[in-house]
Amino acid sequence: MDKLLIEGGVPLAGTITISGAKNAALPILAGTLLATRPVTISNVPHLKDVATTLTLLQKMGVIVTMDDRLNVEVNAAEVRERRAPYELVKTMRASILVLGPLVARFGEAYVSLPGGCAIGARPVNLHVDGLRAMGAAVDVENGFIHARAKRLHGAHIVFDTVTVTGTENLMMAATLADGKTVLENAAREPEVTDLARFLMGLGARIQGAGTSTIVIEGVDALGGGEHRVLPDRIETGTYLVAAAMTGGKVKLNKTDPNILEAVLGKLREAGANLQLGDDWIELDMQGKRPRAVNIRTLPYPAFPTDMQAQFCAMNAMADGVGTVTETVFENRFQHVLELQRMGADIRIEHNMAIITGIPRLTAAPVMATDLRASAGLVLAGLAAEGETLVDRIYHVDRGYERIEEKLQQLGARIRRVP
Ligand code: UD1
Repeated sequence: MDKLLIEGGVPLAGTITISGAKNAALPILAGTLLATRPVTISNVPHLKDVATTLTLLQKMGVIVTMDDRLNVEVNAAEVRERRAPYELVKTMRASILVLGPLVARFGEAYVSLPGGCAIGARPVNLHVDGLRAMGAAVDVENGFIHARAKRLHGAHIVFDTVTVTGTENLMMAATLADGKTVLENAAREPEVTDLARFLMGLGARIQGAGTSTIVIEGVDALGGGEHRVLPDRIETGTYLVAAAMTGGKVKLNKTDPNILEAVLGKLREAGANLQLGDDWIELDMQGKRPRAVNIRTLPYPAFPTDMQAQFCAMNAMADGVGTVTETVFENRFQHVLELQRMGADIRIEHNMAIITGIPRLTAAPVMATDLRASAGLVLAGLAAEGETLVDRIYHVDRGYERIEEKLQQLGARIRRVP
């Protein structure tokens, strides 16, 4: 199993390119199941979760071709299998995103229940309730969600909780339903908007994506098209925090400063100097130690839970006391135990971490527990004194494209070891 060996203490400096967003690529690839003609998607990140999604599609009979410029062509004209097996779903919860498209286009889907995961229970009840409201019969049999409907019909759905993949699943299902679907208290994440843009390119009729009310007018069929995946705001934020924690200066190209305003605001509060262009961000920390900041995670446009671990790492070595409150997921503080092993002074009270910054973290062998927790540990290693070994980095590889190469490009002393 690969590990990352990091010799900390180098201020990051240089320029890198940000990849396409994992959390947009996954629903868009699932959404190709709705298309009767070929679809070309560009700026697809090379990630474990993307590979898993492509395998899932191929197992269903979808033809996938890829070129070396990150363009993926998907032809879902023929789909013989309507099943997402446990072996794939257990490695990637986002497999649930094929549920809506399969029922909507083929009238039937078997998707393994994802089960619990390292960051809390993460149920999919809202996906299932929404499909039922659209006329599907849904049962749970032998660990599988079995959904069927001759043709879904439009419905008025008010989400109890803001759910990103739940919104995406039902929005996709509604594109082929009979009549109008209204999704209220919908997720407003930029990745939901990107999925809507993709679906509209195939001929779907969607209004309001990016707001909390999305209205979808069902059509009989969707055709083919082309789409470019939007930049990854979480990857962007992660490299910005890396630069801030090491007192460095970095420029990130091919990103979008307009989709991470809450994160940029907190970095400014921490003392970073930011310059923004149309598709680039430059952060200059001028060799300074960051100031501690208070964070509260909430659905977009507020501060993202997927940046919480990285800010815990920053607060751990910042000047002052910062609180980090997690309101989206239960049990998403596993990185805290590992940060404590690097000397961090962190106290957990319910869903809040109270972090008193120390001048310098110290290196230690640490273990990644989930995707974003592991990013937090890599950042801590970059800022710590000594050599940090991050184990179980398959979690990192699920969501960060060539992380060690990009960090090396910024001057970090990091390498992958078997
Ligand atoms: C997505 C992102 C993930 C991010 C999360 C929150 C993808 C592939 N993943 O995950 O990176 O951390 O949004 O921004 O886009 N909930 C229910 N019932 C449901 C569905 C969700 O109670 O049926 C709850 C969850 O337990 C959680 C909250 O809603 O407490 C938000 O979860 P959700 O937005 O659904 O997360 P994901 O879509 O799985």
